[in-house]
Amino acid sequence: MGGLRRLEYRGYDSGGVALVGDGTLISAKKAGKLLNLDAELAERPLPVAHTGIGHTRWATHGAPNDVNAHPHLDETGRIAVVHNGIIENFAVLRAELEATGHELVSETDTETVAHLLHDELERTADLSDAVRAVCRRLEGAFTLVICDADHPDVVVGARRNSPLVVGRGDGENFLGSDVAAFIEFTRDAVELGQDQVVTITPDDIVVTDFFGAPAATKEYHVDWDVSAAEKGGYDWFMLKEIAEQPQAVADTLLGRHSQGGQLQLDEMRLSDGELRDVDRIVIIACGTASYAGLVAKYAIEHWTRIPCEVELASEFRYRDPILDKSTLVVAISQSGETMDTLMAIRYARQQKARVLSICNTNGSTIPRESDAVIYTHAGPEIAVASTKGFLSQIVACYLLALYLAQVKGTKYGDEIASIIAEIDKTPAGIQRMLDEGDQVRKLATELAGSRSILFLGRHVGFPVALEGALKLKELAYIHAEGFAAGELKHGPIALVERGLPVFVVVPPKGRDQLQEKTVSSIQEIRARGALTIVLAEDGDEDVVPYADHLIRLPKVPTILQPLVATVPLQIFAAEFANQLGNDVDQPRNLAKSVTVE
Ligand code: G6P
Repeated sequence: MGGLRRLEYRGYDSGGVALVGDGTLISAKKAGKLLNLDAELAERPLPVAHTGIGHTRWATHGAPNDVNAHPHLDETGRIAVVHNGIIENFAVLRAELEATGHELVSETDTETVAHLLHDELERTADLSDAVRAVCRRLEGAFTLVICDADHPDVVVGARRNSPLVVGRGDGENFLGSDVAAFIEFTRDAVELGQDQVVTITPDDIVVTDFFGAPAATKEYHVDWDVSAAEKGGYDWFMLKEIAEQPQAVADTLLGRHSQGGQLQLDEMRLSDGELRDVDRIVIIACGTASYAGLVAKYAIEHWTRIPCEVELASEFRYRDPILDKSTLVVAISQSGETMDTLMAIRYARQQKARVLSICNTNGSTIPRESDAVIYTHAGPEIAVASTKGFLSQIVACYLLALYLAQVKGTKYGDEIASIIAEIDKTPAGIQRMLDEGDQVRKLATELAGSRSILFLGRHVGFPVALEGALKLKELAYIHAEGFAAGELKHGPIALVERGLPVFVVVPPKGRDQLQEKTVSSIQEIRARGALTIVLAEDGDEDVVPYADHLIRLPKVPTILQPLVATVPLQIFAAEFANQLGNDVDQPRNLAKSVTVE
């Protein structure tokens, strides 16, 4: 159950387990969070067993109820299957099974696999062979993990498009959607490739393709331990992850630049020549990662003069985008498994673009399918709403932009060194925002009855506003929207009414009058009765007369401001949700790693 609990962030519509021992298979499953399964198992304990599988579900086919929960069994109850993904041809398979007399009890695509396996096992006694034969018939995305009462020491897994990793233990082996499933037992992991079947026994791991030919695998050591995947005294993972941000940013920067400012991005598998040829950058990502991409656009265009666009991965490939080998596609994904992003990468590579990914999860699919990767090294992120993932993605984007500036010669070495020196100072600035978090928590308590909150920003403050609003939507389930402050007067200002809380991220004073223009926006909304919550740097006195609440930010260069300005918005959303009694780590309807399109 420990392993399952550490995977619960991936989906919490239901949970289930199946164990094999003494020639029988016993299973239990329950709709809702794992707590419900825990209660069921407390009432009806399962026998001790050494072979078993478990699942937490984010519902796609069929409502999140007990019947649709995994594992799914064949009619004899000897085979149990858990599944992540969507089997696209399941309707045809289901009709075929029903025509041959099978009775399916759930609405899921997964159950078809259990019945197909049953039929295969009448033809062959070898469970792995049977799994391979069934996989050859399946279309779509799937990770399958299977156990069988007649094979008590064996678990078979298969993967196409969805994640599955193997844990190599001592006299025991494991499978999991990510390493968190088995981190308490081993940190030695084996990556699986596309269309592979893995058979584990206590002493052996055998990997083949779907036709039984031996397949090459890659082993790696996980650089964090079980304590990193525990709450460590915090009430919520999200609070722990917010607090870890100074370290996460420092770890993203670690070892990436020499004293003289020369940048080293070891995982860069593209040559400097190939990078010099890049004449356009397209960033693709989903959710919070896409807002990191919006920040990156400002940094990349400002520092490298390479045109850069940002696109939601789910939209990208459907508009026939123009790509060629001089286009660098940058995919940003904390999990490295988001299906929309993965499919966009595959499309880009078919079009001959080069793909660089920015990712937090070693061994995940997106970096494996990219031409180059910058890992963020932020450690495991468990809370569904991304926090340290976001800040470390932004830092990795700065590093990429500076690396390109170095290769292309658009910035002198000493300029790059001085920007890096400023980035190096940001962990201290983030820490200060954490230390001053009480002000924001108090504000969240006061505003917890609000049904609508707006966020405004300009320049890189605009994506910060979008992220502040997204955090609140995800966690508090209220109307929250981020706007470009300059766009306010073109429509959104109509939303402003007496008492409406509006956060405004004010840029540092600079040549471009952005600060002055933002102060004007604050005046405009305040004149219409808004309650203004202003985030402005130390020493900015212009905002004081118009701020109902003033949150001070440390002085940083404009482009780096998201690293400090996002933190109070994260703290605000977490506390707001806490006040409402919501589950901060597992908000309703969401999954952290969305491995379906
Ligand atoms: C899901 C999560 C978001 C996350 C997005 C992208 O929707 O709920 O918090 O930002 O996926 O995830 P990725 O792992 O690709 O960064």
